[in-house]
Amino acid sequence: MKVLVATEKPFAKVAVDGIREVVEKAGYKLELLEKYTDRAQLLEAVADAEALIIRSDVVDSEVLNAAPKLKIVVRAGAGYDNIDLEAATKHNVVAMNTPGQNSNAVAELALGLMVFAVRNFYNGTSGTELKGKKLGIHAFGNVGRNVARIAQGFGMECYAYDAYCSDEAMIAANVKPVHSANELYQTCDIVSLHIPATPETKQSINYAMLSQMPKGAMLVNTARKEVIHEEDLARLMEDRPDFKYVTDIMPAIDAELREKFAGRYFATPKKMGAQTAEANINAGIAAANQIVAFFKEGDTRFQVNR
Ligand code: 3PG
Repeated sequence: MKVLVATEKPFAKVAVDGIREVVEKAGYKLELLEKYTDRAQLLEAVADAEALIIRSDVVDSEVLNAAPKLKIVVRAGAGYDNIDLEAATKHNVVAMNTPGQNSNAVAELALGLMVFAVRNFYNGTSGTELKGKKLGIHAFGNVGRNVARIAQGFGMECYAYDAYCSDEAMIAANVKPVHSANELYQTCDIVSLHIPATPETKQSINYAMLSQMPKGAMLVNTARKEVIHEEDLARLMEDRPDFKYVTDIMPAIDAELREKFAGRYFATPKKMGAQTAEANINAGIAAANQIVAFFKEGDTRFQVNR
């Protein structure tokens, strides 16, 4: 039986070694398709795969049609907006993610982006500090919780909004719950985004939302570019010369933002949040273990297309 790891952005070698060990110990064969540049390579590689491990690689009906033997696809990571869940269900393919496995890595990067930005991108001028600033954590899932933990080490005052999380869970983490996104943006100097890209959240971070933030505000995005209304963001940054945007997911309008807002806009050239050896090992090996547990024990605990 063939388990295919198809990663346009590859895992660290040590993670691939770990995945191989799990897969081979179970008696399966591992095949690697890394850094592929053409979708045709993916379509060819999935032809005889029964299990597939991916990262942000897109699995849609075209891929599923090309993979007649496929039983399971595991997104080694949190967000599964790159998998067409309906199409997977139609093809009788179980789709899973590996929640929590790479969240510390993403949270560390979010704080790193904050330091980088408040120190004026290390350009030699005087910046500001994170200590004492109000941090708004937009969605209090695995990444949001890690952000709160690290931000508290910096002495930040943490607030969170998450319609699906109880006040008690936030209070237990020393975080102040607020009860609407508007309240979070009105209250906080810095907002860190940790919402998934869904039909409800797409373009939800718009002019009306951002314009409520206090003077000198900053938005940090280590979530998805789709949640931002990019035209509104550009308009807001035009109207608010005090506003900064730093992101780990390059916007479609990157060139425009770079040209117009130099000194208060930064995007990583490639999404780097989960790109650590530790996160690759955690998420990659979890994906391999979930595949083995699925085939050997029928374990569907992490299934997301039910
Ligand atoms: C996730 O959803 O887990 C992160 O965005 C990481 O994505 P990546 O695997 O493409 O780095």
